[in-house]
Amino acid sequence: MRKKIIAGNWKMNMTPSKAVELVNTLKPLVVNEDVDVVFCVPAIDIIPAIEAAKGTNIQIGAENMYFKDSGAYTGEISPAMLADAGVKYVIIGHSERREYFAETDETVNLKILKAFEHGLTPIICCGESLKQREQGITLDWIRMQIKIAFQNVTAEQAASAVIAYEPIWAIGTGKVATTAQAEEVCAAIRACIAEIYDADTAETIRIQYGGSVSASSAPELFVQPNIDGGLVGGASLKPDFGKIVNYNK
Ligand code: 13P
Repeated sequence: MRKKIIAGNWKMNMTPSKAVELVNTLKPLVVNEDVDVVFCVPAIDIIPAIEAAKGTNIQIGAENMYFKDSGAYTGEISPAMLADAGVKYVIIGHSERREYFAETDETVNLKILKAFEHGLTPIICCGESLKQREQGITLDWIRMQIKIAFQNVTAEQAASAVIAYEPIWAIGTGKVATTAQAEEVCAAIRACIAEIYDADTAETIRIQYGGSVSASSAPELFVQPNIDGGLVGGASLKPDFGKIVNYNK
């Protein structure tokens, strides 16, 4: 039985002092023993957020990292830095990073390999554009993204990973994929993992849906057989995130 995982992606929001306030506001609201709760926060907020979340069920994650251990890469954050700070999860390959910061399936793969090397669990993002959905190539596109992302990743590593299916057209638009659309793609991702590895790995890996998740859409989405939780943007910055985490109560 896979444990649900519901993660907030704060994106480029919250100064360090605001981050502490938000963790303090949300911590009594996001208690649910059935769910792993993760707040992925901007790099500068990681340490104060970890401090503020001490003694709670909230785990602090990062939104990105570089694929090298250290060196002359001005402005980048290494996985060793994240691990040392107490981070467990890191979002890799969010569509905003692919669109605005030139991330490719190949750099996503390098980052995933590096994250595992440092004991971090990647939340690996994939998703199609509206045009690709209209062209009828959604499943082909996602399968390609997954196959490249998992190059040289062992079955044991893959089983511990998290995949976030985030249709680009549903991000920040208020347009949620229908439950059937989300379940169809998450099921296809699981089948792809079974094809690359084996049935056990596919049964163990956790697959989230992301894209305009709200307190009203979460309950139906998160009970689908292949949807193991969500990656939540806008609503993770509000008390509503407590309702999303408690979708089953
Ligand atoms: P929204 O929930 O704001 O649509 O963002 C989704 C997302 O990109 C999470 O990574």
